Amino acid sequence: MNRRHFLTWMGLGTLAGMAGERASFAERYERISPGRFLPSAQSSFVPDVDLALRAAPGDVQTLSGARTRVWSYDGRVITGPPETLQRIPGSYLGPTIRVRTGQKVRIRFTNELSEQTIVHWHGLHVPAPMDGHPRSMVAPGQSYVYEFEVINRAGTYWYHPHHHNRTGPQVYAGLAGLLIVSDDTEATLALPSGKEEICCVLQDRVFDARNQLVYGVGVPMEQMGGFLGDRMLANGLEQPSLAVATRAYRVRLLNGSNSRIYKLAWDDGTPVTIIGTDGGLLEQSLRRPYLTLAPGERADVILDLSQHRIGTSVALRSLPFSGVESSMGMGMGRGMGRMMRGARAVPNGAPLTIMTLQVQRRETSEFRLPARLSTFDASWQPAGADRLPPRLITVTAGGMRWLLNDRTFQMEGVAPNETVSLGAKEVWEFANRGAGMMGMRMAHPLHLHGRQFRVLSRHVDPQVAGELASLRDGFTDEGWKDTVLVMPGERVRVLMHFTRYPGLFLYHCHNLEHEDMGMMRNYRVAG
Ligand code: C2O
Ligand code: CU
Ligand code: CU
Repeated sequence: MNRRHFLTWMGLGTLAGMAGERASFAERYERISPGRFLPSAQSSFVPDVDLALRAAPGDVQTLSGARTRVWSYDGRVITGPPETLQRIPGSYLGPTIRVRTGQKVRIRFTNELSEQTIVHWHGLHVPAPMDGHPRSMVAPGQSYVYEFEVINRAGTYWYHPHHHNRTGPQVYAGLAGLLIVSDDTEATLALPSGKEEICCVLQDRVFDARNQLVYGVGVPMEQMGGFLGDRMLANGLEQPSLAVATRAYRVRLLNGSNSRIYKLAWDDGTPVTIIGTDGGLLEQSLRRPYLTLAPGERADVILDLSQHRIGTSVALRSLPFSGVESSMGMGMGRGMGRMMRGARAVPNGAPLTIMTLQVQRRETSEFRLPARLSTFDASWQPAGADRLPPRLITVTAGGMRWLLNDRTFQMEGVAPNETVSLGAKEVWEFANRGAGMMGMRMAHPLHLHGRQFRVLSRHVDPQVAGELASLRDGFTDEGWKDTVLVMPGERVRVLMHFTRYPGLFLYHCHNLEHEDMGMMRNYRVAG
């Protein structure tokens, strides 16, 4: 393989040298004059929580031996409850940000990287200038002040960079963190919390012989497939083991991988009890043999270990599956399809172990899963939505790129059929046609900024119905979603409501290599 195509994580070698000379974050933060924030803090905005967050190079002990150079977020609470930021020990992941619905949050972000970046709050409904659009990119040494009210329901959200062309490498280098919202309705359920809450961010990586991250997609055909690692990390640690007790746990899962899809199951056959999706709690829990989690998606799961014996263990595994990549074409198309998959040591659909829970202590817990978890607003019930004419978004391939409605990303570009009216309720149909001259098709996790939606229906091309079957029982279409996996040949209809904030927002594939190659578009909420 051409060296140019398989670089050790670019730039980190030189950056790491600078890390030692850097002033502490606190010192540095004090030196930044308010005038350097873009845009500057609004004096009329009175935050309940005021945070400083920075992106900077650093290093962590991920594997045994040499430390791994990474890019990470870290933060500091300026005002507000100190528990708003929770560091994950030993991890490159950013601090978990915990906020409550109704809180006014200010986040003073500083970019201490050698390249531009911007932070996006995935899943949160915030005004357009606060959403982390790549138009608002922050130059090295510069800052950006985010100010928004948390209006989302309680749920598991996350934050990550949104540099057009460089989101994949920046997330891969370590820039990501959880953003957990809680609210009063959720509090009445008394779900397991504190030590009984396990957060698990799933990411796959490649390390070189000196424990440094390797990121590289070579020929365009490889980028069409996305980047897949050959080692599995949970919260930035390789297949961690956790000591647990005989009680119920709440497990919050985030697929923070660039391109990998997971088919998650407990290895002892315990069904997966799902209580929440991207946009928070379901109305009623679901019991599934496994859970499908595509890049960008989250799931909230209850694992009741009260009947487990001391000394036993339960591992979270990704089961083998197929059908997310295919080549329907003849001759050259088939060859290219093989090439797209072939270079990877651990292809999408390979079995993996994520983490292991060791039952070590006897404890009794009173926890009973409530029959009703939440109530969805009546205006959001899918009934009747089938009368709305759908807005069609096709996924196709052309010129070695994945396209949305045959278009690629333009920073300011919005087509007439990408403009919606403020307050409108609409059905969008994502039609995964793929194919193109190479005959390639892939599953794409499609994500919308600025709102949650409901999945109305899935229609499958009978030609690929068999392939879809491999993941179908793990879809969580019952809940609120901001990211939905659209299988090859599938048409998925979702119900949206364009409330509250006008302006320019993004929709894109959350396969980060696809996003970086332009499988992203703006939509405008006009009002
Ligand atoms: Cu995680 Cu543009 O999103
Ligand atoms: Cu997003
Ligand atoms: Cu894609």
